[in-house]
Amino acid sequence: MSAHHDHDIDWGAMLAHLELKAEMHAPALDAAADWMRGLLDADGRADSVDRVLDVGSGPGAITCLLARRFPGARVVAVDQSEPLLEHARSRAEEQGVGDRVDVLRADLPDDLDALGAADVVWSSQTVHHVGDQQAALDGLAAALRPAGLLAVVEGGLPARYLPRDIGVGRPGLQARLDAAWEDRFSTMRAELPGSVAQVEDWPAMLARAGLVPTGSRTFLVEHTAPLDARVREFLRLHLEHALDTFGDALDAGDRAAVERLADPDAPDGVLWRPDAFYLAAVTVHTARMCASDPGRGEAEAQRTTA
Ligand SMILES: C[S@@+](CC[C@H](N)C(=O)[O-])C[C@H]1O[C@@H](n2cnc3c(N)ncnc32)[C@H](O)[C@@H]1O
Repeated sequence: MSAHHDHDIDWGAMLAHLELKAEMHAPALDAAADWMRGLLDADGRADSVDRVLDVGSGPGAITCLLARRFPGARVVAVDQSEPLLEHARSRAEEQGVGDRVDVLRADLPDDLDALGAADVVWSSQTVHHVGDQQAALDGLAAALRPAGLLAVVEGGLPARYLPRDIGVGRPGLQARLDAAWEDRFSTMRAELPGSVAQVEDWPAMLARAGLVPTGSRTFLVEHTAPLDARVREFLRLHLEHALDTFGDALDAGDRAAVERLADPDAPDGVLWRPDAFYLAAVTVHTARMCASDPGRGEAEAQRTTA
């Protein structure tokens, strides 16, 4: 096992949480894929994409979406978690794209060189789990073929799912959860092996990786009240995850409020309350490799494509 991955998080245990979230975000992710296809079309490349990497693929929901959006391509789910990769493989089979989806166990940043060349590299909510985010982007950029596209999902907006005053605890709970999460996130980053403090200007970081930034766009995800059971279950898992990761940073009143909201039997918990909704924003930062770059071309010739 490498010294580089995030030992604090049991990713396999987050399978259901990650999968529900990706499914809930599917319309926004589809819109993002449309936009990416448009960017590739500027070079007449969208229909000739033949290898796509989904780096930090989790349970493979986005991998399968990318396989549908790039029907001529092999799509590789890349992750450090074996259970998540196994799930990605079976999900691809179930969704009828198993013949074009491969899985690759890789630990970033150690295995960046083993990714092989690709026309599209997508990485959602994963680069921030690598100590040196710039080095991670440099490695992902190095996997791009000429005129290839890198898309990185980072930042965006924290989800909103409850009104300001919910009749449980002190009003404004979600804003305080966001603040506690930001602190936990900073601690998580600081504790990563090889952690490097970085101004998170993603387009500038992509340019520093040798790419030409092609824009950042944000896609809205909205599920209105009353929520269906799937979104309610996601919110329950989300609140349980909040308690596990930064519950000890909340005051007693806020912790009790979150416990009540996550309680499957509480009538005012998120599984039952009529006012719960889900609003989030997914930000995608894109950049492309130059169509011809002699240095890159040489590296490309030497790189094996899996
Ligand atoms: C927050 S999840 C994102 C999953 C998916 N991309 C999505 O947006 O729904 C982060 C994923 O990155 C993987 N991951 C975290 N650190 C990693 C590392 N150092 N190398 C490879 N994969 C890593 C985890 O196993 C997990 O599947």
